[in-house]
Amino acid sequence: MILIAEDVSPAALHQLLRNGADEFVPYPLPEGELQAAIERLQEPAPAAAPESARLPEANTEGGVVLAVQGLAGGTGATTLAVNLAWELACADKARPPQVCILDFSLQFGSVATFLDLPRRDVVFEMWSDTERLDEDVFRQALVTFEDRLRVLTAPTDILPLDMIGPDDVTRVLDLARRHFDYVIVDMPTTLVQWTETVLNACQIYFATLELDMRSAQNCLRIKRALQAEDLPLEKLRYCLNRAPKFTDLGARSRVKRMAESLEIGLEVQLPDGGRAVSQSADHGLPLASTAAKNPLRREIAKLAQSLHALGRDEAEAA
Ligand SMILES: Nc1ncnc2c1ncn2[C@@H]1O[C@H](COP(=O)(O)OP(=O)(O)O)[C@@H](O)[C@H]1O
Ligand SMILES: [Mg+2]
Repeated sequence: MILIAEDVSPAALHQLLRNGADEFVPYPLPEGELQAAIERLQEPAPAAAPESARLPEANTEGGVVLAVQGLAGGTGATTLAVNLAWELACADKARPPQVCILDFSLQFGSVATFLDLPRRDVVFEMWSDTERLDEDVFRQALVTFEDRLRVLTAPTDILPLDMIGPDDVTRVLDLARRHFDYVIVDMPTTLVQWTETVLNACQIYFATLELDMRSAQNCLRIKRALQAEDLPLEKLRYCLNRAPKFTDLGARSRVKRMAESLEIGLEVQLPDGGRAVSQSADHGLPLASTAAKNPLRREIAKLAQSLHALGRDEAEAA
């Protein structure tokens, strides 16, 4: 029902609309307004909430939690987290896994920047009162990247890392695991009281490092710290970023010596992807969208495929 009204008081108009008119157009009719009103009525009513805004169905089994932390600043932790999340989301065209990425770097978290996403105020509200955390709050705190990846960005303003504690982190992780097949966590470079919480909750804790003294020393220190607390060191998967090419024999032998002296495995090696990598991040896109053939992208895609295949095999064996 379209109402065309002339000289009607706002109260009367309100009454008429409340009684069932769908549209109101003033008289004399402004050009094209009647036509526009008719067209609006013919459009299907918008769904209550857009599909992408809903959380995926809860799953009692719970998803896989993969955390990423840099053993030194700038070693590519966020690059790995963001691109791994995207590759996992694209890992199976027929049955796309549900993936979310949680930026736990409350201070300088840059996942939002890497994916050119807005930071929502709800994120701060969520963290400041996780006892009230439920599906609705979580859903509102997430933003969607290209319909396929859900992102909990860092808050708009810098927060002290100890503003949140183990209980807060547990609540958020539990909720995320219930709804997503993969939960990727981008951790701050610093160790905090809730690092242990994430370490215990995750299946794999990726630690990025480079072939330099800084990474080597930090690696020893973190190993000592975790060992002293009896934490599950075996969950750490070291990723050598900007790894030298196989043809660079001198550097290869340095990699081997580094792994031996630190007593760590360096199976995951990520090549240098050059300027394209930071350019992609500056454009707010995963490498797959800007430089699909980039060597770093290929390696992260391979990693995602092998992780996804592993999960599938385990599900089938169970
Ligand atoms: N393998 C790589 N090849 C080229 N550039 C890289 C590579 N890994 C990281 N970068 C760049 O290095 C910078 C730091 O990476 P970032 O992921 O922010 O590190 P972190 O999160 O560990 O501090 C970014 O500009 C990123 O684009
Ligand atoms: Mg980072």
